[in-house]
Amino acid sequence: MAKYLTEDNSIQAVLARINDDECSPRFRRIMTALVTHLHDFVKEVELSQQEWDVAIDFLTRTGQTCTPERQEFILISDTLGVSMLVDAINNRRDTRATENTVLGPFHVAGAPELPMGANISLDGKGETCRFSGRVVDLDGQPIADARLDVWSDNAEGFYDVQQPGVQPKWNNRGIFTTGPDGAYDFVGIKPVSYPVPVDGPAGEMLTGMGRHPYRPAHTHLIVTAPGFQKLVTHIFVGEDPYIDSDAVFGVKESLMAPFQPLADGDTAWLCPFDIVLAPESA
Ligand code: BEZ
Ligand code: FE
Repeated sequence: MAKYLTEDNSIQAVLARINDDECSPRFRRIMTALVTHLHDFVKEVELSQQEWDVAIDFLTRTGQTCTPERQEFILISDTLGVSMLVDAINNRRDTRATENTVLGPFHVAGAPELPMGANISLDGKGETCRFSGRVVDLDGQPIADARLDVWSDNAEGFYDVQQPGVQPKWNNRGIFTTGPDGAYDFVGIKPVSYPVPVDGPAGEMLTGMGRHPYRPAHTHLIVTAPGFQKLVTHIFVGEDPYIDSDAVFGVKESLMAPFQPLADGDTAWLCPFDIVLAPESA
């Protein structure tokens, strides 16, 4: 093999430098595939120097956009479908179990623990919706002590953390714990679609690809129970105009729930949605 890197031998030239005495087998595998695909990509598109400079500037600004509250790299991973691909690979569940989807950047730990039936919409805006169902195992048996950590945007399409001082703290967030019947029940709003943040490099990338930044309306849930796999998911509004073009590819058919108009009382909608957890051992 030639002593120095050439266009033809570039992959082998880099891989030959991996020192197996100091590199774990897993890291070797990852770096071998990464270098191979990266060099193949550069060769396939015959990247110009100017394009590579643009890419470096893009990545630099992506890092500079990150703060403790904002993770632009994750947003780029989300909008390129990588977050959902990693999620799919890591959550291959029994088909009877509720499917996972992307966590997103707006979960906040420590939301108020509320009694069943409580209303999490603190700003009084939007169409009220009662979310109700059971948390069960693969055989349909109720799961007691399941914790449902739920959050959604408000009627204007913003999470409380995006509008501190405008929305009440913990608006549209709460934690509910099931009893022996596995039932849950809370009032929130029928969520609305909203754009992912587009004022940074991810927004530029979407614009460059001619893509819109919207997510179809959804309510987030993290469901945990002793002995069961953690579920990170959404309930989607199936008739949303963006349901087939989610900017972060998070939609799954099984996660679209019916939103049924309710004639009675103050609540406009009912969303029935059962949650099926897979056992930890599976
Ligand atoms: C969300 O659903 O909250 C979300 C997910 C990915 C990127 C941005 C927002
Ligand atoms: Fe969301």
